[in-house]
Amino acid sequence: MKFKKIFSTAKLSKRGLAIVSTVAVGLTTAQPVVANEKTITLSKQEFEQRVQASRLLVKEFAGNLQGTLKPALKGQGPVAAINVCNEVAPKLAQQFEQQTGWRVGRTSLKARNPDNAPDAWESAVLNKLEQKKAQNVAFSQLEYAEVVNFNGQPTLRYIKAIPTAQKPCLACHGSNIKPHVAAKIKMLYPQDKATGYHEGDIRGAFTISQPLSSDWFKRNLASE
Ligand code: HEC
Repeated sequence: MKFKKIFSTAKLSKRGLAIVSTVAVGLTTAQPVVANEKTITLSKQEFEQRVQASRLLVKEFAGNLQGTLKPALKGQGPVAAINVCNEVAPKLAQQFEQQTGWRVGRTSLKARNPDNAPDAWESAVLNKLEQKKAQNVAFSQLEYAEVVNFNGQPTLRYIKAIPTAQKPCLACHGSNIKPHVAAKIKMLYPQDKATGYHEGDIRGAFTISQPLSSDWFKRNLASE
């Protein structure tokens, strides 16, 4: 298997969820993590495998969403397609969660659904990715993985940025949303913040948290 260089940090802060450094350590060091007063060191190989398993799941999730959204937009238009985002995305996430025992979702610094709002770790990572984007880092490299103490469990958390495409994203996330589409969005999401995006912006991210106690990744990678 091949892996792209990704950014990771070695230390766990006292609060457990903050990023403590942005040093690019790639995939070279084992990461000691303290959770429930035990120190856990993840081998380089396991770290890599878990990151790769997260990537595979994101690919699957993104492919499923696009495969549903595009035909709906084309066939029924944006108002009907709102239901795809509204119902299909959370349902898919739930299915993946049941399959893996991980937490799977989408998040954003400007979320449409308040349930998707980032936690402290996610928003710190999203801010770092925004900085990288400003330095012209390619979208394919806007990802991040780190082992942290998450709800008392040593957990590999992984985030992958989602680009805003001109089509089909701007119909519902741009600055020129048609009034009848905007009205339906407003009705479903009175606290919507996810408008005003431009092509090429980071719309949000896939976010995956795998407790190290879950070994689903082994079976998943073995069947590759
Ligand atoms: C038909 C309207 C529509 C289109 C087109 C659309 N979205 Fe959304 N988007 C929504 C709705 C509705 C939600 C809220 C979903 C929920 O309740 O979880 C959402 C939520 C999201 C989220 C989760 C974070 C949040 O803001 O709640 C991301 C990420 C996202 N969209 C990305 C995209 C991208 C990327 C595209 C283009 C490929 C796109 N969307 C196209 C309507 C749309």
